[in-house]
Amino acid sequence: MAPKPLKIQETSLQEALVDLVDLSLQGKQAHWNIHGRHFRSVHLHLDEIIAEARLAADEVAERLATVGGTPDARAATVAKSSGLDELEAGPLPADEVVRLFEERLMAASERIKGHLDDLEEKDHLSADLLIGVATKLEKQAWMLRASAEDARSTGAATSGTKARKSA
Ligand SMILES: [Fe+2]
Repeated sequence: MAPKPLKIQETSLQEALVDLVDLSLQGKQAHWNIHGRHFRSVHLHLDEIIAEARLAADEVAERLATVGGTPDARAATVAKSSGLDELEAGPLPADEVVRLFEERLMAASERIKGHLDDLEEKDHLSADLLIGVATKLEKQAWMLRASAEDARSTGAATSGTKARKSA
């Protein structure tokens, strides 16, 4: 007989799924509309974030199916239930993209972490999967943050300071 998911399994995995799908969609939107200084490194970094988010979405959806749930990542469902703020249409300055995605990566991680205590009690394997996902999201947020610090310190460099080349 097919298993039936517990409420906490359904909620935590489904929420993570829509957030990850939204993150990958917003990532492409920014990848295409980014401009300005540090264009190339942020443009490429977004594709890395997207690849990780897509892989994680697949694992999370399949875990939900494994425990008897029905993963739902239809466009309308993602638009309705994503925990991430919407991205505005139009051109996006690279510095702004860094800030917006650091924010969204952390928001997705926080939503996952909000369920972990309850999930741990009922399902270690789903909790373990989501801990891994949140860890990766926060690592990407750190990488964006670190690249922004580099941008700021380069911008603030006075003459006579040896300019650092950005990657
Ligand atoms: Fe591309």
